[in-house]
Amino acid sequence: MTKRSSYHHLPVSELQNAATPFYYYDLDLLHRTLDEIRRHTAGLPCRVHYAVKANGNPRILKEIASQGWLGTDLVSGGEIQAALDAGFKAREMTYSGVGKTDREIRLGLTHDIGCFNVESIPELEVINAIAGEMGKVANVAIRTNPDIDAHTHKYITTGTADNKFGIPIEMLDHVVGQAIAMPNIHLKGLHFHIGSQITTMQPYVMLCETANRLMDHFDAMGIHFEMVNVGGGLGIDYEHPDENEIPDFAQYFGVFKRLLKLRDGQLLHFELGRAIVGQCGTLISHVTYVKENRGKKFVILDAGMSDLIRPALYGARHLVQNMTTTPGDNSSLEHYEIVGPMCESSDVFAGDCLLPETRRGDLMAIRSAGAYGESMASCYNMRPLPASMFSE
Ligand code: LLP
Repeated sequence: MTKRSSYHHLPVSELQNAATPFYYYDLDLLHRTLDEIRRHTAGLPCRVHYAVKANGNPRILKEIASQGWLGTDLVSGGEIQAALDAGFKAREMTYSGVGKTDREIRLGLTHDIGCFNVESIPELEVINAIAGEMGKVANVAIRTNPDIDAHTHKYITTGTADNKFGIPIEMLDHVVGQAIAMPNIHLKGLHFHIGSQITTMQPYVMLCETANRLMDHFDAMGIHFEMVNVGGGLGIDYEHPDENEIPDFAQYFGVFKRLLKLRDGQLLHFELGRAIVGQCGTLISHVTYVKENRGKKFVILDAGMSDLIRPALYGARHLVQNMTTTPGDNSSLEHYEIVGPMCESSDVFAGDCLLPETRRGDLMAIRSAGAYGESMASCYNMRPLPASMFSE
């Protein structure tokens, strides 16, 4: 499939008759995005970990794994297994999450994963005990809650003092001391993640300042970290996916190059999800009906919140386009509410959407759905999980 429409990545005629809904992935864009990351991290002693939670589709994982230079950031035993199956190296895996179960910890230790990002003392004690039973030493980073407000949606802010993630800075000395004293723990460094869909660099500037301050503090105590993990969170442009199909990696990595004072031999870790896969995925759907209630026009799609929950859950906005109408024809624009078929009033993709006159059978694209789209899909209303299709 190589033909391009003015909907950039979408070969309209080939998709028109496919059974919907499904996710369409532009692998060329995925590879170009990865190339840009590689280009802008050249010379920086770092490793980029793909955050599998953003999209664990096996083909997407294989494409990313086949690059050979990315690690993974994982949050469950299921993700560890999926990353192993796709060919990612265990020693380049980081495993985060406030509630790792004993079974998941064992799985990570069995494969000698690169790092457990530890979020509490009880977790540290359990990892130490299980590693002891297994005759292993667990690599650990302490997830630090830096109390930085990333000014993103309240459900995806993770670095402020009042949420469940990480260990508050004032407890850090104690936790680091405990980790160092535990026989089956090897303390590698500090981990941060301040939130997701971050579109200004200020929170990252603050993160660098905090990380520098903490490393100075621990250096003065004779504690030197071999790595520092600054998490992920770089946002994408949901409004202009064609104009900004690849995030501004020069600016993002530039902040860390400029401001983070890495020590000799220290390795910087990133954990990017959305910035890698967000723009390469589109949810494709057909219009089942167009109906009018009291002067308001509704476009009812065969895709629903079970396929893409972000608008219903976070009030997220995704660009909706009618692929059947002639691109650029604005002669008959109408206001529509774009909804799904499900029995929930939150099953709405876009509240007020200006589109060319739209009819039953038209093919619709819900853009920028590559991250946290398919991976958050469910079978609610006993609907099948959405299918996936690839550009090559
Ligand atoms: N590292 C950690 C520890 C994380 O918790 C996350 C995301 C990431 C890395 C990757 O963040 P990214 O680069 O993708 O922003 N479902 C929400 C997003 C939840 C993000 C959860 N953690 C959404 O659809 O917007």
